[in-house]
Amino acid sequence: MKKMFVLTAFIFAAFGMTAQTSATGDHNESKQIDHAICVLYPTLGNKVTGIIHFTRVEGGVKITADVQNLSKGKHGIHIHEYGDCSASDGNSAGGHYNPAVKIHGAPVDDNRHIGDMGNIEADESGKGLLEYVDKTLTLDGPNSIIGRAVIVHANEDDLKTQPTGNAGARLPCGVIGIAK
Ligand code: CU
Ligand code: ZN
Repeated sequence: MKKMFVLTAFIFAAFGMTAQTSATGDHNESKQIDHAICVLYPTLGNKVTGIIHFTRVEGGVKITADVQNLSKGKHGIHIHEYGDCSASDGNSAGGHYNPAVKIHGAPVDDNRHIGDMGNIEADESGKGLLEYVDKTLTLDGPNSIIGRAVIVHANEDDLKTQPTGNAGARLPCGVIGIAK
């Protein structure tokens, strides 16, 4: 009987230790997010792919987007409200991410949707590169972009038509996740 009690006590102690160890490991949860990534996959009927890095820098978040198989020219690029790329036309991602309820604009505007990243321009080989520091969007806080979706559009964002920039169909879609 006494032996059993000792064994039980040992098991409880062992479990307690495990719980404590995993609680320490979970501190990642509250760690500052410095890097996020979005992998773009084509919606139905196109072959556009890409990778976007969001990196915390002095004064904002540096965006580095590398997109392939676009038509030559400018294409609207935005963060949309829902991290849901399940619909074949990308409409499940909702409208532009706009928690502050502002108007659609250019990335340099003060009055803009948080999701407004402007345009990415592709060359004749279909490759588009976009690199700039965004002073509005954030990787943490109540308006964090983590878990939202990025969409690249068929047409140019005119940076003024409400509420979409008249950028046309949704080509690739990807969800923004936490990166190492
Ligand atoms: Cu969009
Ligand atoms: Zn917008």
